Amino acid sequence: MRGYASGHREPKPTILSIEEDPMDFEDFRGHAHSFSDWMADYLGSVETYPVRSQVRPGEILDKIPLACPELGEPMVEIFDDFQKTILPGITHWQHPKFFAYFNGNSSPPSVLAEMLTATLAAQCMLWETSPAATELEQRMMEWLRDLLGLPVSFVGSIQDSGSTSNLLAIIAACDKATKGRASREGLAGGPPLIVYASEEAHSSVEKGARIAGLGSANVRKIAVRDRLEDESTMRLDPLRTAVSALGLGLRRTGLTKGLNPSDRAGGAHPKPHRRRTARGALLNLGHDTATKVAG
Ligand SMILES: Cc1ncc(COP(=O)(O)O)c(C=O)c1O
Repeated sequence: MRGYASGHREPKPTILSIEEDPMDFEDFRGHAHSFSDWMADYLGSVETYPVRSQVRPGEILDKIPLACPELGEPMVEIFDDFQKTILPGITHWQHPKFFAYFNGNSSPPSVLAEMLTATLAAQCMLWETSPAATELEQRMMEWLRDLLGLPVSFVGSIQDSGSTSNLLAIIAACDKATKGRASREGLAGGPPLIVYASEEAHSSVEKGARIAGLGSANVRKIAVRDRLEDESTMRLDPLRTAVSALGLGLRRTGLTKGLNPSDRAGGAHPKPHRRRTARGALLNLGHDTATKVAG
């Protein structure tokens, strides 16, 4: 495609070498208007696309140059590539008939918010690198904790993925269970540490146990409640049995929990008000939960 369908000013085409400034800000404005027109059209008509991409494996790959281009291309051509090459290979998660995995992971306000965060492109690893990011995250996590009915002692931070969250949960649980020895000296020489997860836990729990050095054989899968019941958390009796079968030399590490409501990786807890949180976030680790459940 050469040019946009909308009436906005078409930015001048440029062929850029990689040393040159990629785009002046007036061109950026024109592209941004055209893109946002396309975004609104897409979101307003997403149901007209097939839910699943109709491409064959490798079809998109065949259309992408083997070697990295040395020269930049005009944005309108990049957008044309997006429409002709990328869009056919997209599964439309915002489609009203998309019922796989989880949905509702985007909304028009969240798209606009991402435009702002992409523009700021702040790296938020420390308070000093962007105080607002740290403090906003802190307050959001408090809201989330309260929405999940967790005790106020829980703290958390946003992770980049479910897998990272599960890995962090396992590492922190190891640390807690070994009173810091796991972080200082590693796991070698200590007692085996066991992770309990529901039988429907995502594979990232086992992967996390492998990465953390516990070994996937030390992940114990616990049966969940009746799938037709609203409560899809671990059943307590099999968990108690699994824990008591451990023997004295073994230590508990923790329970991992998933935030995704469709996930049945939830931890178990005997108290009804806690049970509601069993599908809750990996805000904190399960040492406390595990001790209560097992003890
Ligand atoms: C419950 C649950 N946990 C963990 C993951 C892994 O997430 P990610 O791919 O972001 O690491 C998924 C992904 O579908 C998931 O559904």
